[in-house]
Amino acid sequence: MKIAIGCDHAGYDLKQEIIANLQAENYTLVDCGTFSCNAVDYPDIAAEVASVVLEQKIPGIIICGTGVGISIAANKIRGIRAALCDNCYTARMSREHNDANVIALGARVIGPGLAVEVIKTFLSTSFAAGRHLGRVEKICQLESASYKEE
Ligand code: RB5
Repeated sequence: MKIAIGCDHAGYDLKQEIIANLQAENYTLVDCGTFSCNAVDYPDIAAEVASVVLEQKIPGIIICGTGVGISIAANKIRGIRAALCDNCYTARMSREHNDANVIALGARVIGPGLAVEVIKTFLSTSFAAGRHLGRVEKICQLESASYKEE
């Protein structure tokens, strides 16, 4: 499975740990940066990861200090449903119920061991559709309506 990943400076160390862990399990990572601990702006990284997710139709992982800023930024991009997760239950539900295509993590909130488990749960869970489909469609309608207003 191919996955896009990106982080700001606060998430750099965690990103490197996640890449090493997932590569060891034969996942292919598209690394959208950042590539050092030098300060960058998390909206720029959110945009990079989102474009790969949408173009290649693959899941994405985004990381900043709390996961909040980068998830807010990613969720401004049409077609992105980013879920900020710090536990496996939320990660599973974000896929089953919300069809999230991006997982956001806070590097100052979660340790690498749990982060990898949460990501694996996210990647191995499918959208349940059924009664959840119409709700996700309503999210898409909200998105379309807000773009039309501009
Ligand atoms: C960077 O210091 C920090 O503000 C950023 O990583 C993130 O936590 C913002 O939401």
